[in-house]
Amino acid sequence: MAAILSSLLAGSVLLSGSVNAQNFGSNGPVEDAFSYVQPLNTTILTEYGSSPPVYPSPNITGVGGWEAALEKARAWVAQLTTEEKADMVTGQAGPCVGNIVAIPRLNFSGLCLQDGPLAIRVADFASVFAAGVSTGASWDKDLMYERGLAMGREFKAKGAHVALGPVAGPLGRSAYAGRNWEGFSSDPYLSGVAMEKTITGHQDAGVQACAKHWVGNEQEIQRNPVYDPNVTTVKTSNAISSNIDDRTMHELYMWPFANAVKAKAASFMCSYQRINGSYGCQNSASQNGLLKTELGFQGYVMSDWGATHTGVAAIEAGLDMNMPGGLGPYGLNFGVPSFFGGNITIAVNNGSLDTSRVDDMVIRIMTPYFWLNQDQNFPSIDPSSADLNTFSPRRTWTRNFTLTGERSRDVRSNHAELIRRHGAAGSVLLKNKNGTLPLKAPRNIAVFGNDAGEPTQSSVLNQNNYEFGTLFAGGGSGTGQFSYFVTPLQALQSRARQDGGLVHYWLNNTLIANSNVSTLLIPRGQPDVCIVMLKTWAEEADDRPHLSSDWDGDAVVESVASYCANTVVVTHSSGVNTLPWSDHPNVTAILAAHFPGEESGNSLVDLLYGDVNPSGHLPYTIAMNGTDYNAPPTTAINTTGFDDWQSWFDEKLEIDYRYFDAKNITVRYEFGFGLSYTTFNMSNLEVSPLANNITSFPENLPIQPGGNPALWESIYNASVSVSNTGSVAGAAVAQLYVGLPSSAPAGTPPRQLRGFEKLHLEPGETQTAAFELMRRDLSYWDIISQQWVIPEGEFTIYVGFSSRDLVVHDTVTVVG
Ligand code: NOJ
Repeated sequence: MAAILSSLLAGSVLLSGSVNAQNFGSNGPVEDAFSYVQPLNTTILTEYGSSPPVYPSPNITGVGGWEAALEKARAWVAQLTTEEKADMVTGQAGPCVGNIVAIPRLNFSGLCLQDGPLAIRVADFASVFAAGVSTGASWDKDLMYERGLAMGREFKAKGAHVALGPVAGPLGRSAYAGRNWEGFSSDPYLSGVAMEKTITGHQDAGVQACAKHWVGNEQEIQRNPVYDPNVTTVKTSNAISSNIDDRTMHELYMWPFANAVKAKAASFMCSYQRINGSYGCQNSASQNGLLKTELGFQGYVMSDWGATHTGVAAIEAGLDMNMPGGLGPYGLNFGVPSFFGGNITIAVNNGSLDTSRVDDMVIRIMTPYFWLNQDQNFPSIDPSSADLNTFSPRRTWTRNFTLTGERSRDVRSNHAELIRRHGAAGSVLLKNKNGTLPLKAPRNIAVFGNDAGEPTQSSVLNQNNYEFGTLFAGGGSGTGQFSYFVTPLQALQSRARQDGGLVHYWLNNTLIANSNVSTLLIPRGQPDVCIVMLKTWAEEADDRPHLSSDWDGDAVVESVASYCANTVVVTHSSGVNTLPWSDHPNVTAILAAHFPGEESGNSLVDLLYGDVNPSGHLPYTIAMNGTDYNAPPTTAINTTGFDDWQSWFDEKLEIDYRYFDAKNITVRYEFGFGLSYTTFNMSNLEVSPLANNITSFPENLPIQPGGNPALWESIYNASVSVSNTGSVAGAAVAQLYVGLPSSAPAGTPPRQLRGFEKLHLEPGETQTAAFELMRRDLSYWDIISQQWVIPEGEFTIYVGFSSRDLVVHDTVTVVG
């Protein structure tokens, strides 16, 4: 791979007639302008906090199955004028969140790009699915695909060519980051599998996936530059820079995106922040180098909305599509011209931008379009999307969009049934004292907390942190628009009625936290169970100020538990909550229900009453205290320099359980933890090589999507027997962790997830969980050779039910 990179760069010389980044705006930073071309060497690549120039931008080859589509795209692009090519790479205000205009003379009806990772957001009569964090918590590969496929079908039926998801950045470096819930897990392996399954699902439905946000987008604060309020094109400070060393980049932050490329994601979205000093969307090392060269990405890179800060410099650095286009740096700042658009025509005509690069941009956009047959009978954009699109309302459109076809199409199909299942599968049972759950037809149920009931403001949920009403999803572009929803209170009431029970409720957290709960309850009789519903908001553009539940949730629990001996706590949350009352003797059960989607109440009642046996496991760690977490977001700086917002990822590989394990820190609930109503046993670990003489270094094979295919070859098999030793059916998740030999470089985490299998088992049943370990799974990224290397010595393979419940283990020596 290093050889390929070097040979590519050997041909990379200063381009004649080089332009500087100022061409398309006086505010374009030039730190990554292509006139800085230098030969790639390891010194530069390992330099921490600076981004080496990697040019030119590689052309698509179609390798990996897109060859025929590439030929179609080439022939199609050959018919375009320069102006049409500029249109193809530049967004416009229009009916969708992102729009590429039609070229009617070629029967091309344009492209519609829609958010987001849990629903088609700008739409009516569409479903709101379980969020990424719930999906990660399911540890269920089939569910991940099923959800991706169902979502893809809804996007397509509404006329959206591109779904702006799934999310692997943020990965979850910090528990406080505002968008972790849009993604799946802070573990790159779990996130990578979820990316692959979701993308395959979306694209099997005929919709292009967009893996976002590439890469190192680990906090919201200062994700964008700050502009002068009087001169809106002038920056007063640059966005935060995520400064990530080469090894950490490969083993954590790139890892799940490699799965996305392998799954043939049509598009990637580059991120707002800077990466090692250079803006994500004009960072040649990340786009030309890591993504298009090392990972062999064949699709196109679009900018996040307003993340483009230059024209030619960004294009040469690998950006293929500017979104939302002509709306200016703020996205909503109408009238500010695009860095792309007409400027591309000018640059091509004056020779400062080679047509071949523009052709490659358009070909990269059109190849997945043809590959997914989007040229054949693709549904029209539902006209209702245009009405709902507050991002670019009709009055802002400067180009023509003809909207045809049925308005307000109902695309929900039978998806409510699967969303109900997915919501339950993504809930994690953390405590269940004396078999409190499942509930046994309680007659007197008391419900507490402002997360239980109907929102009082509006059914247009999840756009802000409202006090009253249940929470199914976080905010920002990753949210959804509900056509209906089932609250926990509704579902509990209807279930209690079936059982001849009754439900009392108190929904005001301030009242509950400050009341003697016994005085509330005594007139209504001693409840059989008190259910406390808590919520935790998180949204795009902000990080979480704390890891507690919102609206004084901890005080609500204390207040209820001080009286009610059977207090069951349910959290609807974006992720980590510290749960300081978890050992309270009256808190008998805790269920982390995450963001389950529109069937929330039903998903919950299915679990509480045992119609569904909990099988979710934490996709992150719950520490004892918020202060136990390392790597917090950078929330302020003490200086005023233009470039001073820097976030040094000095913890390197030690995030989440990798950190807690390395430092031997006691946690409340570890990564991978989750209870069931049954019990499981595990035995008979067998680990065996699939080849003789496995070498440390991978064979240098021609790059395919996902990188060197040798990295994806299975080289070891492992299997364990898992038995259901209890009395009800349930699903166990067998989790395989690898401990690399001591010869691996310093900083290698003690154990890392490298396999998981969910098994549905009847009482008494035993099944085998089989794992295939690929070369990448047993390697570390060697910054010197620029290769994935299998270290010499003894590996320990652990399999268990969580990262700290490692039931069986074995040792193997891989290389030799
Ligand atoms: C900004 C967000 O970061 C991105 O995820 C989203 O797709 C775009 N806005 C469009 O809404």
